[in-house]
Amino acid sequence: MSETAKLILGGEEFEFPIIEGSENEKAIDISKLRGSTGYITIDPGFKNTGSCGSEITYLDGEKGILRYRGHSIESLADNADFLETSYLVIFGNLPSKAELTKFENDIRKHTMIDEEMKNIIDGFPKSAHPMGVLSSLTSALTAFNPKSLDINSEDQLYNAVCKMLGKFLVLASWVYKKHVGLPLNYYDNSKGYVENLLRLMFEIPTEEYKINPEIVNALDKLLILHVDHEQNCSTSTVRIVGSSHAGLFASISAGVSALWGPLHGGANQAVIEMLEAIKADGGDIDKFILKAKDKNDSFRLMGFGHRVYKNFDPRARIIKKAADDVLGALGIEDPVLDIAKKLEKVALEDEYFKSRNLYPNVDFYSGIIYRALGIPTDMFTVMFAIGRLPGWISQWKEMRLNGEPIGRPRQVYNGETDRPFVELDNR
Ligand code: CMC
Repeated sequence: MSETAKLILGGEEFEFPIIEGSENEKAIDISKLRGSTGYITIDPGFKNTGSCGSEITYLDGEKGILRYRGHSIESLADNADFLETSYLVIFGNLPSKAELTKFENDIRKHTMIDEEMKNIIDGFPKSAHPMGVLSSLTSALTAFNPKSLDINSEDQLYNAVCKMLGKFLVLASWVYKKHVGLPLNYYDNSKGYVENLLRLMFEIPTEEYKINPEIVNALDKLLILHVDHEQNCSTSTVRIVGSSHAGLFASISAGVSALWGPLHGGANQAVIEMLEAIKADGGDIDKFILKAKDKNDSFRLMGFGHRVYKNFDPRARIIKKAADDVLGALGIEDPVLDIAKKLEKVALEDEYFKSRNLYPNVDFYSGIIYRALGIPTDMFTVMFAIGRLPGWISQWKEMRLNGEPIGRPRQVYNGETDRPFVELDNR
């Protein structure tokens, strides 16, 4: 007999099936709840609600496990590159050599962007937040690619994936160039994806840009770590927008907007802002550690602790090494980064942080890397978006291929009940 859950309502008993995932996670299937009982469930923030079944990402916050399609984040960061990982996440398996070469070449075919897009970019003020511009430009891609996609055509789907990966990278770098007032440049098809990201952002017409392989390697790892994190806010947004059969560009544009918020993608920015505030205050680390521990003070050490990872953030372990490599390769001397190192050391040895399992999370180190690369703080979330793009694409594709119904939650209405209309003169 398979396991079921029983619910008693008004003396009547209802039974619901239990479903079990491949890692033994269990869920009560309430898809027939309203039909059989007339009741719905309420779960603000969906903290107890599974919105779908998914074969893409598995994470266990207690054990510090993160796997894409069954491959541990550690093994991918050590052995794969960003496009290889993207292929894995989007298509389900690691690519063969031939598949990977084809994928890289097919993405290159889509790295040109209609020149008219530059008029749209010119319409934004230089001061506009890069995430708002990126979301708008991603949505504008729909206007330049109006043909709708036949989700059942493998070729069309593959082509849309390559187009999205090719164009998004260039657009993201153009957002940066616009923000800092430098001329927009083009993808170089003789170079790799991550090399191009650096070139597109930092190459200027007046001098040669030398690629530093250690920086490419660290950035590549950083992007891999951000590829997917199951049903987070932006990913759920992409799935729900796509569930109305809105196109891929429109759905990804919505995902960018969701990621923009400080409660989601914005934490890496908050880390650097906190370090700068500590520096401006005289750099007294102990004072800020005391503030973070003081229950009457709302100050928290940004970049420490995690809602899901309660032992350690597996991504942070990997990225800490990449951060050290970048700082070493660049020979950076930056008082803000010195504060970061001291803060990390003091907090890791402090009983308050140890007893609450508060370790540096991925955002602590990613902010440090971005800063060392000279990326402005309000571009940090754009870097996160570049990394998360394959995850969004994969989740959108899975949702459409599974034929999931349109996302349409219910509510409990708490407003006025039926009221008579009162004429304007009598109100
Ligand atoms: N600094 C000081 N104390 C902290 C911190 C912190 N950063 N984080 C948690 N605590 C304390 C908290 O006061 C509480 O203490 P007590 O048990 O004495 O009341 C205890 O640790 C447990 O905290 P919590 O708020 O119940 O934990 P949570 O799971 O609700 O919060 C968190 C997780 C990430 C929101 C929180 O740790 C935090 O605010 N961290 C700083 C912000 C940050 O770095 N966010 C980025 C997270 S990674 C993003 C991603 O994966 O995409």
